[in-house]
Amino acid sequence: MSENIVWHQHIVDKANRAGALNQKPSVIWLTGLSGSGKSTVANLLEKKLFDKQKKTYLLDGDNVRHGLCGDLGFDDKARVENIRRVSEVAKLFVDSGTIVITAFISPFKADREFCRSLLCDGEFIEVFVDTPIEVCEQRDPKGLYKKARQGDIKHFTGIDSVYETPDQPEIHLAYSDSESAEQSAERLYKMLELKGYV
Ligand code: PPS
Repeated sequence: MSENIVWHQHIVDKANRAGALNQKPSVIWLTGLSGSGKSTVANLLEKKLFDKQKKTYLLDGDNVRHGLCGDLGFDDKARVENIRRVSEVAKLFVDSGTIVITAFISPFKADREFCRSLLCDGEFIEVFVDTPIEVCEQRDPKGLYKKARQGDIKHFTGIDSVYETPDQPEIHLAYSDSESAEQSAERLYKMLELKGYV
């Protein structure tokens, strides 16, 4: 932390903002391989929450890397910094009373736990989008797996960069041929409802 900096306690706080919005601010953290369906499910979930008049914001890896994290690449150090910045931003949104949905590969357990550590108990919900790499590679919506296999992209998650599987995610979305992204989002929404988040 910088020196000579003093925290300002504001008159309107998180509880006031959340109360006015009648919702429980939290971070719904989707993690999984590239092509696992994080962004698709996150989008559909946000729409469901929005339709219920919830105040939401979706932070997505590809989008954040166009601005806030546009200077970062994909080696381990850059990924740690990416998730550090995103976690701090997510915390600010939670402070504003918002339900934040994030869609980042976030391959390292320690970084996901860093975000959890910034928040209060129960505010961080880890969602493992558990799609096997064979399925992600088969989908290859952006042609990135093909490029990585050809050696045109370095440090590609699951190929020459590690993905640390969550041990005990709050919610596990196991890939299945019989469940569409819409059905996954609906199941996720129902689980959040059951656990009292929405
Ligand atoms: S991370 O690991 O959390 O910092 O990554 P993230 O910010 O989520 O960005 C992932 C998206 O970047 C594209 N991309 C790559 N992914 C993985 N490895 C490498 N080397 C890479 N280069 C570019 C890719 O489109 C990812 O998007 P998703 O939606 O996950 O497929």
